[in-house]
Amino acid sequence: MANLVLFGAPGAGKGTQAELMNAWLPVPRVSSGDLFRYNLSNNTALGQTAKAYMDKGELVPDDVTVAMVAERLQRADCDAGVILDGFPRTVAQAEALDRLLGEMGRRLDAVLFIQVARQTLLQRLAGRWTCPSCGAVYHEVFNPERNKGLCDVDGAKLFQREDDTPETQARRIDVYQEQTAPLEAYYRTRGLLIEIDGEQDIEGVQAQIKTAVQAL
Ligand code: AP5
Ligand code: MG
Repeated sequence: MANLVLFGAPGAGKGTQAELMNAWLPVPRVSSGDLFRYNLSNNTALGQTAKAYMDKGELVPDDVTVAMVAERLQRADCDAGVILDGFPRTVAQAEALDRLLGEMGRRLDAVLFIQVARQTLLQRLAGRWTCPSCGAVYHEVFNPERNKGLCDVDGAKLFQREDDTPETQARRIDVYQEQTAPLEAYYRTRGLLIEIDGEQDIEGVQAQIKTAVQAL
């Protein structure tokens, strides 16, 4: 059983690391951003609601986000644990998560805080390409795909996220500082925060996360 949160600014590498963790931690990854993008591509009411916020780099309201993640956590595949990516992002979401896990007789084991400087975040977001079907994430310079424009895992044609314009990237980082960074103190106070040096290369970050999780 492992209930983990990957915490960090946009572009810190949460999605990249969560995907690699699959190789040694057999629990599902639940990414609130991916859930919103899935709803968006299927044109659901939830997707339409979220789009207005995502396009501007703003957070989707807490009640909408918490309801979506709660539904996902209650599915059977999460019984053995979960790696949360991009959730929680506000103190209200963190309190809701404590409540949700409590109702299931569970609690968070650790919050892995991937720390990266703003300049690095911007470089990473600028060169990012994503697989529409499996969610795998690449970078033009730091982590290129083997066959230009095609996902290594399933061969799908890679795309750049709509919220990866320079303006929205900068706004997402500002929103992180204003609304999400306070969670660092929230989790530090509870003894759950584990700091990870996110400036290392992808394998280096993964190795540090693996060591930290295995020590729990
Ligand atoms: P979301 O999808 O969560 O986006 P984000 O937080 O902006 O984070 P990113 O996905 O951009 O970054 P990441 O940390 O996953 O980095 P990645 O691995 O891709 O949210 C999108 C939107 O949805 C939000 O703006 C909001 O509107 C809404 N939303 C989502 N959750 C919400 C919530 N809880 N509440 C309210 N609203 C919510 O890596 C980035 C790039 O860097 C890649 O190209 C990668 O290859 C490269 N890279 C990664 N690690 C390294 C490394 N160590 N060295 C070099 N390159 C690296
Ligand atoms: Mg991500």
